[in-house]
Amino acid sequence: MEGPTYIPRSGFARWMDRRLPVIRFAQEHVIWYPTPRNLNIWYVFGGILAMILTVQILTGIVLAMHYTPDSTLAFDSVEHIMRDVNAGWLLRYLHSNGASMFFIAVYLHIFRGLYYGSYKAPRELIWIIGVLIYIVMMATAFLGYTLPWGQMSFWGATVITNFFSALDFIIPHLGTSIVTWLWGGFGVDNATLHRFFSLHYLLPFVLAALVALHIWALHVPGNNNPLGIDVKSPQDTVPFHPYYTVKDAFFLCCFLILYAYLVFFAPDVLGDPINYVPANPIQTPEDIVPEWYFLPFYAILRSIPNKLAGVIAMFSSILILLLLPWLDTSRVRSGRFRPAFKWFFLLFVIDALALGFVGAHPPEGWYIVVGRIATFWYFFHFIILLPLLGWFERPLPLPASISEPVLGGGRAAAGAAAQSMERH
Ligand code: HEM
Repeated sequence: MEGPTYIPRSGFARWMDRRLPVIRFAQEHVIWYPTPRNLNIWYVFGGILAMILTVQILTGIVLAMHYTPDSTLAFDSVEHIMRDVNAGWLLRYLHSNGASMFFIAVYLHIFRGLYYGSYKAPRELIWIIGVLIYIVMMATAFLGYTLPWGQMSFWGATVITNFFSALDFIIPHLGTSIVTWLWGGFGVDNATLHRFFSLHYLLPFVLAALVALHIWALHVPGNNNPLGIDVKSPQDTVPFHPYYTVKDAFFLCCFLILYAYLVFFAPDVLGDPINYVPANPIQTPEDIVPEWYFLPFYAILRSIPNKLAGVIAMFSSILILLLLPWLDTSRVRSGRFRPAFKWFFLLFVIDALALGFVGAHPPEGWYIVVGRIATFWYFFHFIILLPLLGWFERPLPLPASISEPVLGGGRAAAGAAAQSMERH
């Protein structure tokens, strides 16, 4: 798809263009970037995610100026931020709730991709880089949660790092040695806190680099769209600016209202109150529960009675996403034209929510039964259902182009209006 070419107008613009063509780059990749004209609300979350990543990095840098990553001082330094530092409470609540908002946005972004088949050729790499982003996001959130050095920070870190000890079942002592190496000692302690802080500071910049690759990979084939069909002519697209800058800005404001509500009116609603109790290595909390965004994976872990199998299932449930472009064999991208997939997609959403619900409760009684069924269905969906659906499902006929349903009716109506004006 060829579009207008950038022509530098001033002397300075020409000078820059020969040396570092950033204006040309912005013109071609942001302002003029041809975007399918039918993108709906589910396409706003990529931009929102980029905004939250920026907020997390900025608030995190200032928090780090006041935080002390020492096991004897960490908890108090967070209280110092909350009470003594100017607007410290605001910085902290923006950052902790920012993490939740980040995951809300990323889950909507991922499920949008799942429904519209955005992971299918030629966008496999956008998806794979996305999954890597998601994994780094989870690692960053986990490391960050350790830093306040409350009870759940400490015990959460202990439980998660202990996953690696399951490797002892394969090679004796291998897992335990890895865990000791991760801890930097024989338990979660000062050395662990120091390295977790260092990595928590580092990873968001790795994320930023991955996001740059993600968007680079996106700009090669261009956006998918709710119809899942390719752009066929310039009529199918509009320039990104002003059409999508305005639309994204509007929904960003809506998203910020929810974010502000959490920060100003319910800053602790998504957190566990026990993390306001300082870490105590000799007292385990009654129930160790991760933050809400990890609950479905925690449920998968606990649904399987064998430790090694549970850990493998939990990691596989994330890594399986990397294979999705090849597991889904349907030639049609968008769920809109897949009558059976549509329903199974809904079922999958319910399944993920059920796993989250189960993950928040102790593994007993009905929670175990529901957890096991939901875990089974999670893997069944990806490994059995998607490959088979592609072969057996009969998709609905696809529209000829993106502009056909949008402009077809519109042009006919405009023509009729013009004729009627001529008659009068
Ligand atoms: C920091 C996190 C992320 C950022 C900043 C980000 C950013 C973006 C942006 C700006 C877009 C284009 C606008 C849009 O379609 O919403 C996009 C598209 C896309 N992203 Fe992400 N993304 C992130 C995480 C992820 C994750 C975790 C996945 C999947 C596991 C993913 C998969 C995709 C796919 C498949 C597209 C193409 C969608 C289409 O064209 O239909 N992204 N991303």
